[in-house]
Amino acid sequence: MNREEISRIAHADHPIKAPLGDDSVRALLAKGLPRGDERVLDLGCGTGEWLLRALETGTGVHAEGVDVSPEALAEADEAATRRGLRQRLVLHDQDAAKFTSPQPFDLVLSVGAAHAFGGLLPTLAAAREHLAPGGSVLVGDGFWDGTPSAEAVGMLGDFDDLATTVDRVVADGWTPVHGHVSTRRELDDYEWACWGGLAGWALDHGDDPQAPEVLATAGTRRTEWLHTYRDTFGFLTLVLRRTPDRS
Ligand SMILES: C[S@@+](CC[C@H](N)C(=O)[O-])C[C@H]1O[C@@H](n2cnc3c(N)ncnc32)[C@H](O)[C@@H]1O
Repeated sequence: MNREEISRIAHADHPIKAPLGDDSVRALLAKGLPRGDERVLDLGCGTGEWLLRALETGTGVHAEGVDVSPEALAEADEAATRRGLRQRLVLHDQDAAKFTSPQPFDLVLSVGAAHAFGGLLPTLAAAREHLAPGGSVLVGDGFWDGTPSAEAVGMLGDFDDLATTVDRVVADGWTPVHGHVSTRRELDDYEWACWGGLAGWALDHGDDPQAPEVLATAGTRRTEWLHTYRDTFGFLTLVLRRTPDRS
């Protein structure tokens, strides 16, 4: 089974592919969408769940999503149609780092996709290119909540701690106007949804020739989480606006 299929099954019970609960997503989007007529862009939109929830906040909202996964975009397309949102959504199958648009956006999202740009600050630089005057960026990325093992860094990347992460964002010319640090429960719910969901699929599809491999993958990923990064991985989502240049 390929990575995309594994990911589709693993996220079936957690369509937001990041460790945030529904209330947290709602509160973050509310901060980024104060008017109800915004143009929203998601760089690394996956199956489009952030955009679909943004579109559901008001009929005046229009959204565009960019991702390199045709499978994820096909799911976004199908879900948007099912939820009556397709006419206000444009999907782009391309590298988000190379995406250009003739019109700017009032809210630029990028959650769990910083690797596509080479880290958090390059993600913000890319988001800034698309931002309308007075607009906001909603960005989500990891941080280390304690000293990670070399294995954890090798697996997830080299993050800063929470305070240093925010300091670097502020030093880069951004002002956080809202933020959410994923709770222990959100972090655990996400991992259990992914690896428990994948294991459950394998048990429910015992006749499928791929079931043993899927069950083994679920076990490996659960073990990696519990032994390698559960105690040190944190996730921060910020709503940012540009800090006025007073010089
Ligand atoms: C962890 S998922 C997050 C999806 C979505 N933002 C969410 O929170 O539900 C990361 C996404 O980034 C996408 N991605 C990775 N590299 C990319 C690139 N260079 N350009 C666009 N998307 C990319 C992946 O295909 C995947 O859908």
